Amino acid sequence: MINVLFVCLGNICRSPMAEFVFRDMMEKRGAADQFHIASAATSSEELGNPVHYGTTNKLKEFGISTKGKYAVQLKRKDYRDYDYILGMEYRNIRGINRIIGSDPEHKVSRLLDFTGNPRDIADPWYTGNFDRTYDDIVEGCEGFLNYLISQNVVKL
Ligand code: 4NP
Repeated sequence: MINVLFVCLGNICRSPMAEFVFRDMMEKRGAADQFHIASAATSSEELGNPVHYGTTNKLKEFGISTKGKYAVQLKRKDYRDYDYILGMEYRNIRGINRIIGSDPEHKVSRLLDFTGNPRDIADPWYTGNFDRTYDDIVEGCEGFLNYLISQNVVKL
């Protein structure tokens, strides 16, 4: 099993979007059973809250439901349980490191570092631009999948 955890600040906008987009991508490629995919927050601001309507509405366009997802916080023990811990922006990487302590197994990356154009994913909580977030997340998930394929981690 390949264990993937997407992480953002609140776990209501970007990381749930990445969780559902990546799961949908793996389902469409018939590889979902090789993965455990989840998402979490570095902050405690939104714990227990459902996915933001901006993310829910955007994913609805593609027939993806976010039903049943509520914000949870990253825990130190997640470092043991996940193989890939993917932050949305540099600030998340600092937040992740604060919670897990250190990253001796190099499990922590920024999602768009798997693309040809490494950068942060802007926070739509502030920008209001969920279309841009979606495009960035699809680009990041495709880059991450290509990395897994190149490393012979995933079999398609
Ligand atoms: P997210 O967006 O990190 O993409 O889920 C945010 C959601 C809530 C807050 C910040 C960012 N907040 O401060 O409550």
